[in-house]
Formats: sequence, C-alpha cells, structure tokens
Amino acid sequence: MPKKTNKPDFEPRIVVFACNWCSYPAADSAGINRMQYPPNVRIIRTMCMGRVNPSHVLKALELGADGVLVSGCHFADCHYSFGARKAAEQYKRLEAVVRILGFEKERIRQEFISAAEFPKFVKVVKQMVDQVKKLGPSPVKKQIEKIGTFSKTETALEA
Ligand code: FES
Repeated sequence: MPKKTNKPDFEPRIVVFACNWCSYPAADSAGINRMQYPPNVRIIRTMCMGRVNPSHVLKALELGADGVLVSGCHFADCHYSFGARKAAEQYKRLEAVVRILGFEKERIRQEFISAAEFPKFVKVVKQMVDQVKKLGPSPVKKQIEKIGTFSKTETALEA
C-alpha cells in the first residue's frame, strides 16, 4: 500500500489560447489520432493568435492559472497576414511584464503549431505541464488560498 503524504500531488491548470486555424485543429487531430495529452489544459479557441492580448494572459494568471500557452499559426500561414507576427512582438513585452510581476517566465509559453503538427501540440503540452509541475502552484493561487476564495464569477478555472 502506497505511503500517504499530507501534500497532494500538484496538478497544474494550464490555459491554452489556440488559434482557430492551426493549433486548435492540431489539438483536435491529436484526439482523432488517439494521441493522449495531459488533461491539465483548458483550451480557449481564438480566431488568431494576434487576437490574444497580453491582458488576456495576465487575467488568466490573475485568476489562478498555473501556466498559459499561447499557440497559433506559423507566420506565413496566419490567416490575418500579420496576426502571428504581432503576437510574437507582444509576447516579448508580455514576458518582461510577467517577470516584473514576480512570475517565473516558464509559466508562459508561445508556440507556432500548424494544423498538421498535432504531435508537436502534444509534445508542447506535455513539456509545459512537466515544467509547471516543477515550479509548483502559481504564486497567485498560493495567496488566494491564504486570503480566501474567488467570487462566483471568477471560478471558471476551478471547473
Ligand atoms: S490565423 Fe492563426 S495565428 Fe493568425
């Protein structure tokens, strides 16, 4: 019989913003091809990676996400011409802000994953979950546990 410990295994909650045209179909294809990836991710479909404002990532972290992955098309495949490039530029600034706020930079990640690259999607999700597991719960989550719970409208990540 396994030894009981007081500390439950940490299962991170990772929010994935996935582009409708590339990364979201990659996640779908992974399922169709019976490739398993950890159930720690909550995928939010967006029309373009460029539509994901840095404030969306910060909001996810504020609400207790342990990590956030922003995933979209390769530059040449972006359906909105410059969306992926814009996202790449925004991400550099986002990384700086996240560090200033006291989060480890490994809690966020940006990837360019086409619809055909579903094995890459699975690999990235597994890497991200392992990486965030090593970091432990989000510092925000730890503070929330000290001061109380979210309001009813802010419990979306708890589902
Ligand atoms: S349409 Fe996919 S990143 Fe722009």
